Amino acid sequence: MIVDSHNRIHNYLRISLTDNCNLRCFYCMPEEDYLFTPASQLMQTDEIRKLSEVFVEEGVNKIRLTGGEPLVRKDAGKIIRSLAELPVNLTITTNGTRLHEFVELFKEVNINSVNISLDTLHEEKFKLITRRDQFTNVMNNIRLMLDNGLSVKINVVVMKGLNDNEINDFIEWTRDVPVHIKFIEFMPFEGNRWTSNKVFTLQEILDVIAGKYLFIRLQNDAHDTSKKFYVPGHKGTFAVISTMSENFCGDCNRIRLTADGKMKNCLFSKNETDLLSALRAGQDVRGLIHQNIKRKAKELGGQFSNDFEHIDVSEINNRSMITIGG
Ligand code: 5AD
Ligand code: SF4
Repeated sequence: MIVDSHNRIHNYLRISLTDNCNLRCFYCMPEEDYLFTPASQLMQTDEIRKLSEVFVEEGVNKIRLTGGEPLVRKDAGKIIRSLAELPVNLTITTNGTRLHEFVELFKEVNINSVNISLDTLHEEKFKLITRRDQFTNVMNNIRLMLDNGLSVKINVVVMKGLNDNEINDFIEWTRDVPVHIKFIEFMPFEGNRWTSNKVFTLQEILDVIAGKYLFIRLQNDAHDTSKKFYVPGHKGTFAVISTMSENFCGDCNRIRLTADGKMKNCLFSKNETDLLSALRAGQDVRGLIHQNIKRKAKELGGQFSNDFEHIDVSEINNRSMITIGG
């Protein structure tokens, strides 16, 4: 078992397949001329498989593929097939632009749930946020997933003044369509123009929804990062990921592997362990995993607290989101 010094058991691995992406969301990617990691420095298919096998032997039973955008990687299909052979619940977080190429594969390997990032229901605003013209394509792919019986979760990063006025439009969408909306509080990463006054908190989100809908809190499952709710009579549900105002570090079970093979024990951890180089050099990866997890901070990478109004962004030492993988 992979256990940290706060007795948290880590059974959930999030693997970033690439820091490349075909969109350019400003809150995730530092700037337009961001240089992607060269392919030779990325974990290769067999290396992803080998590292995953070690994690599974140590108790991991859930793997999520992330990016950048995982499905822009040319061998994404091969990686998915390979990991689907392991005894894990395999899921994926994607921007949705390429899903039409993967729907058959997902059905074949039993991926029955996808998380899709979509921060607005307006085509023009989508272009503003992502700097690409892919709104219709993503909406069509959401429909395609639903028509094929997959469960669809929609990740919405809520930013004050940008899309907080759309919260109830997302809720309205759940009335007839069985999508599960996850509102995410805006988090600070290297180069993402975060300021505390752009955070729209759990409480603020619930207040907006309460102005129009009656909703009921759902029971949380263990390790849930979100607080879940439903509006009676609606086909979909909604949830809020309140990292900034009310963290859920207490029963965190997550480990991350970046596309260049570095293990991170927290989204906000400063320290990384280079598992890929160790694997390539024939060294003991298992020992490194346990050493890394022992250093996991109690909350938020030890870098800040839920008093987010007083965060000094310049003091946070981390990668940009696109190189971590969400
Ligand atoms: N704050 C909150 N969520 C973010 N994501 C990317 N950057 C941020 C940020 N700064 C989300 C994306 C994607 C998931 C992988 O992480 O919306 O859905
Ligand atoms: Fe790409 Fe996702 Fe980052 Fe947007 S949030 S730039 S879709 S990796």
